[in-house]
Amino acid sequence: MIEVKKGMSEKEIEDYVNYVLNQMSLEEKVDQMKGKRFLFKVIQDRGVGKRTYDGAGSRRFNIPSFEFTDGPRGVIIPGSTCFPVSMARGASWDPDLEERIGNVIGRETRAHGGNLYGGVCINLLRHPAWGRAQETYGEDPFLIGEFGAALTRGVQKHNVMATAKHFAANSIEKARFKVNVKIDERTLREVYLPHFKRCVDEGCATIMSAYNKVRGKYCGHNDYLLRDILKGEWGFKGFVHSDWMYGVKDTVGGVTGGLDVEMPRAKYYKYKKIKSALNNGEITEEMIDEAAKRVMRTILKYTTREDPQNYGEDLIGCDEHYKLALEAAERSMVLLKNDSVILPLDKNEIKKLTIFGKYASVKNIGDYGSSAVSVKEVSTPLKGLRKYLGDSIEIVGSNGKDLTLVKELVKEADVSVVIVGLNWRDEGEYIKELRIGGDRDNLSLHDKDIELIKTVASETENCIVVLIGGSAITMEEWKDQVPAILMAWYSGVEGGNALAKILFGEVNPGGKLTFTIPKDPQDLPFFDKNADEIEYGYYHGYTLFDKENYELAFPFGFGLSYTTFSYGNIQVEVNNDRIIGSIEVKNTGDVAGDEVVQLYIGFEKSQIDRPIKLLKGFKRISLEPNETKNVKIEVPTRNLAWYNQESKSWEIEKIEYTLYMGGTSKKEDLQSIQFIIQNK
Ligand code: GLC
Repeated sequence: MIEVKKGMSEKEIEDYVNYVLNQMSLEEKVDQMKGKRFLFKVIQDRGVGKRTYDGAGSRRFNIPSFEFTDGPRGVIIPGSTCFPVSMARGASWDPDLEERIGNVIGRETRAHGGNLYGGVCINLLRHPAWGRAQETYGEDPFLIGEFGAALTRGVQKHNVMATAKHFAANSIEKARFKVNVKIDERTLREVYLPHFKRCVDEGCATIMSAYNKVRGKYCGHNDYLLRDILKGEWGFKGFVHSDWMYGVKDTVGGVTGGLDVEMPRAKYYKYKKIKSALNNGEITEEMIDEAAKRVMRTILKYTTREDPQNYGEDLIGCDEHYKLALEAAERSMVLLKNDSVILPLDKNEIKKLTIFGKYASVKNIGDYGSSAVSVKEVSTPLKGLRKYLGDSIEIVGSNGKDLTLVKELVKEADVSVVIVGLNWRDEGEYIKELRIGGDRDNLSLHDKDIELIKTVASETENCIVVLIGGSAITMEEWKDQVPAILMAWYSGVEGGNALAKILFGEVNPGGKLTFTIPKDPQDLPFFDKNADEIEYGYYHGYTLFDKENYELAFPFGFGLSYTTFSYGNIQVEVNNDRIIGSIEVKNTGDVAGDEVVQLYIGFEKSQIDRPIKLLKGFKRISLEPNETKNVKIEVPTRNLAWYNQESKSWEIEKIEYTLYMGGTSKKEDLQSIQFIIQNK
């Protein structure tokens, strides 16, 4: 007889699970299909997410339970390290950094006793009003896929199962429990699923189904998504669990749909209900076996692996992890405007600095939904500046409500920093009972913030606006009146320290936007936070703005630096299975800096309707002044394919393509070269 032990091979696990299935009663099998989290435990813990949610497992057969905790901005159990939100981390364009963050999250999950992490949130930012925009990485499927895969890699290294969510087409918050997403096959395959496929290929252990419907069926019941595509075509071997409340609507729907586990506790996957569905012939025993097998196999795979280290409680929120949170905040901030090079500020030239705005000195690290990480102490902008500057510069802070006082203070100061933006009331996971979060009604700042910016800007030429938020903020009403704008995001527990270093040039900003900021929000796809039904079309974000030639405030991929870069000598090489683009990038300024080199493939010669161009590769590089680097980026040829819904297959057109490389998605900022894919 095989027993559960460390270092089991996949074959041993498979044999063991088959043996166990033969021994188990129906009730024991059904136990694998549910979370065990009862309300009294939540009450006992004094709140949701204070410890892991357990489920499945079998004492008789020595199979541990899974122990779920959430993210994505860190482990939600109190004490954990709070990172900048995912949208900020996406703006770092640095998947290696994301993998290191995953590494920390994996360690902290284990130190809290968890083994399942629900924070690989990779839904597509179809419209910036989406309330949970902050939990994903941007508007582009390729970029989101790379980041989701990196987080998965990092977390799973510590034998924590990662959950990619919310599968699929979950891009409206308030209507998430009811909205039906109409979508054609090509759009589903090319725009809304590739990032999930990327994470599955990376070996992501579990998938969380979304609340919404796709083509009339709830995602938790959606056999086309779960059985045909995920488990069938993609060969996913892990298990699928539901989203938290109302993720399953009935026993038969869930089981036939391919949903393996109901979370956080059984309502429809109760033994009695499953048994009666079986007796009525509405579900089969094979379905139950399949679900139980997937769950046990996945748990055993992760819990029997040798651990790379020990996971003592001292790891939780330790200095090393906080250092990474600082690095992440530094690498993700995006400099949007810097006229007459007002930034970085020079310590020696400033005597007095004023800091205004409602987020200057309050904790504002993201929403209060399922991803909220509770931390007592946060480095706010004011704290960060005070710590960084010590007594060398006088800092005067005010919330900016009294505009007469603001004017007076501005006049006395050399520089004024205005910290404005959004918080958990404006955007976030929608929690009806608490009346918080949800989607945004408006993409601009609040009127009071705009008034504050305008007031400060009218009194000084040295007005720096720092924006806090998790998605696009339109700035047309005021952006021409200020010389400098920095997107600082919800920047985590070390955010204020990172901000100070950036404002004073100790860190040169290198982040870039992972979404389009429109001039006119009307140009964005139709969005209705209360929709019962909505059509998700093929174009959104930069593909839409490219195609329609709409005016932009800031393009996808945009971000400034304290130095400048020049590009030249673009080359392309076409091999059997890959296209290699290369370009020389030179730091033409006076300070060292990072540049995000982006590679897009253009489809101008396509025989079908295709985007003007699509992001297919990127690399963040560091350059000393005057240094030149030859940057090579490889694109697997299969990534050029489009989905032909007639033939139900991915096809690569044999045409001339354009390869673009440069520092933003704007055509004028890109170098280009043609290449051909021929019939072999
Ligand atoms: C929710 C969220 C999901 C989260 C889950 C558990 O309702 O939609 O993202 O993982 O609760 O915290």
